[in-house]
Amino acid sequence: MEGGFNKHHLLGIRELLPSEIEFILNTADAMKEISFRDIKKVPTLRGKTVITFFYEPSTRTRTSFEIAAKRLSADTINISASTSSLVKGESLLDTARNLQAMQPDILIIRHPHAGAPHFLAKHINTAVINAGDGMHEHPTQALLDAMSIKEKKGTIEGLEIAIIGDITHSRVARSDILLFTKLRAKVRVAGPPTLIPPYIENLGAKVCPCIEDALEGADVVIALRVQRERLKQVLFPDLREYAIRFGLNKKRLALTKKDAVLMHPGPVNWGVELDPEVMDLERTIILNQVTNGVAVRMAILVLVAG
Ligand code: CP
Repeated sequence: MEGGFNKHHLLGIRELLPSEIEFILNTADAMKEISFRDIKKVPTLRGKTVITFFYEPSTRTRTSFEIAAKRLSADTINISASTSSLVKGESLLDTARNLQAMQPDILIIRHPHAGAPHFLAKHINTAVINAGDGMHEHPTQALLDAMSIKEKKGTIEGLEIAIIGDITHSRVARSDILLFTKLRAKVRVAGPPTLIPPYIENLGAKVCPCIEDALEGADVVIALRVQRERLKQVLFPDLREYAIRFGLNKKRLALTKKDAVLMHPGPVNWGVELDPEVMDLERTIILNQVTNGVAVRMAILVLVAG
């Protein structure tokens, strides 16, 4: 494999070179078949300790990191904010320093505040992986999205990728836009005007005035979840109205290229951002994304531990 990855942490897509992204994706390709063996285990990280530390709920990210670590023979420990001494008032930094004192090799953190993984990476020696920080980045989601697109399209370069929905609150959108533009795809975004931040064009995405413009001729469509937990004010009338104006259904998907794929990072609000009629279409690759999440996270664990 050409290139390499010499970083101690994975904090965001912003910090990665295109060659490093390609190297991670190639490593993930090599890892994927391990999950389809009868005995899904290799000794690569035997003797290493991996801690997942999630301050926010998660199904896919947390489970796939744990499965990835176990398939690589690492020892895994999961900590939730609600059952840790954070509830007694211990700070994030004190918590991390105390965990580091037990000599883990990798700390995977999800935190509601942007920059929390970067802060820890400055203060502890353990390798830090960002599993989602506030509305900032979700780098492993972008990497698994890229892997899933490459599997179907063979490349990212030159593709027209439409990202639809709540861009403002989406760390997935930010990491996806950074990654896809680094690999020379063209990214368009559309959604309720109140959920499209003006600075998004500075990341390299084109803002479309309506959802139909964004979908027209697209190779890839990524629908985003309406993040009700992050909506502090009313930014669109209601979910029914959202579904009518911005929800993806067969009719709207007919605007895309015939072989366009439909993706979503999950969890999906069925009937809101996606009509249930698109669930079982051949072009819908949401569960492929989840499968690839294990391979990408195996690759990241091996590379940061390396
Ligand atoms: N895509 C994603 O981050 O899902 P979870 O919140 O379930 O981890």
